[in-house]
Amino acid sequence: MGLMKEEYQEFLNQMGEESFLNPYRDVCRKMEQKLEKINIDYSEKLGRTFISQITYRIKTPESCLNKIVKKKYPVNRRTAREYLGDIAGMRVICSFLDDIYKLAEIIKADKELKVIKTKDYVKKPKASGYQSLHMIVEIPSAEGERRKIEIQIRTQAMNFWAVVEHHFVYKKGEYEKDAFEKDLKECARTIYKIDKKMLLIRKKMETAKKNEKN
Ligand code: GTP
Ligand code: MG
Repeated sequence: MGLMKEEYQEFLNQMGEESFLNPYRDVCRKMEQKLEKINIDYSEKLGRTFISQITYRIKTPESCLNKIVKKKYPVNRRTAREYLGDIAGMRVICSFLDDIYKLAEIIKADKELKVIKTKDYVKKPKASGYQSLHMIVEIPSAEGERRKIEIQIRTQAMNFWAVVEHHFVYKKGEYEKDAFEKDLKECARTIYKIDKKMLLIRKKMETAKKNEKN
C-alpha cells in the first residue's frame, strides 16, 4: 500500500491493542460458555444433540478498517465499537431448522443479553442464496464493559453451503462469477428443501416413538 493515510495507520494500531481486543475476547469466551451450558441443558431435554459446533473469531484490524471506510464512518475506536457489530463474531451450528429459532428465543430470554438486531436470512435468503439467522447481541465483558457480538445461527446443511460458497467467492475470477452464482443459488434452494424434509422426518420419528410408548 506504500502511502497509507496516517489516520488509517493509527486506527490499525489502536484496533490491534490488547486493551481494545481483550473485552472482545472476554465476551466471546463468555458467550461460548453460555452456549455450552445451553447445549448441555437442551441436548438432555430434547434427547439429541442441540448444538453441534460453536466457533468464534475476532475481526482483524484490516477488516475493521475496510468496513468502516466502506460504510463512511469516522475512522476511530469509538465508531468501530458503536457501528461494527461483528468485531466479535460467533457461529453456532444446529442440526435442524427449528433449532435455529429455539436458540434465538433462548438468547432473547437471557437477561444478561440485549438483542440489538436480528436478521433472518433463513426466511429471506440473501441474493447469493446465503441462509442463516444473524443476531447482534450486547453483552457485558468481565470488566462490565458492554460489547456487541454477532451470532450467526445456521444448520449443518446451511453451513456446508456457506463455507463452500465463501471459498469460491474468494478464489474465483470475475468472469466466472455468473455461472457459479446460478448453480450455488440452486444448491441453496435444494439445501432448504432438505432442511425442511429432515425436520419433517425427525418430527415423524418423534411421534412414532411417542406412540410406541403409549
Ligand atoms: P458485512 O459487511 O459483510 O459484515 O455485512 P453486514 O454487516 O451488512 O452483515 P450481513 O448481515 O450482510 O452479513 C454478515 C456476515 O454474514 C458476513 O461477514 C458473512 O460471514 C455472512 N454472509 C453474508 N452474506 C454471505 C454470503 O453471500 N455468503 C457467505 N458465505 N456468507 C455470507
Ligand atoms: Mg461481517
